[in-house]
Amino acid sequence: MDSPFKKELLYSRIIIQARVKELAGQISKDYSDREPILLGVLKGAVFFFADLVREMTISSRIDFIRAASYGSPVILVEDIVDTGLTVTKILKILKEQGPESIKVCALIDKLERRNMDIVIDYCGFQVKEGFLIGYGLDYNEQYRYLPDIYTIR
Ligand code: PRP
Repeated sequence: MDSPFKKELLYSRIIIQARVKELAGQISKDYSDREPILLGVLKGAVFFFADLVREMTISSRIDFIRAASYGSPVILVEDIVDTGLTVTKILKILKEQGPESIKVCALIDKLERRNMDIVIDYCGFQVKEGFLIGYGLDYNEQYRYLPDIYTIR
């Protein structure tokens, strides 16, 4: 579908693929002696999540965010952390469920609208500003399928 916006390529699929592989390698190394649960945040993270899990070299379990209790180490997987509200709320709920540990993995750490302190343990790319689409990121539910990440104006 044609976009009504002018879109500029920000991260190509090649760059994304390479960075996802690096993150997966780092997580696999950090969790070499444990089996983490990778907890994906629907819906935007699905694309990143699927690639990340498949690039990991250790055994892991997967789930998507819902009310459940997790006794194992949890890695929360987000496509983007923007204001930080979503991750903060989810971490609060997760902590009450007493997981062994919780880390955050986000493909994009966007700083422009951040108004709370968030530690992103595994960060793909840090972006200052802009509206991003593609690789799971949407505008009105569209453009998630694009393999590359663009900024739109
Ligand atoms: C997006 C994204 C994060 C959240 C980040 O989700 O997937 O979950 O926004 O924004 P925040 O840091 O300002 O809270 P969205 O609500 O757009 O749902 P989606 O994942 O289904 O697109």
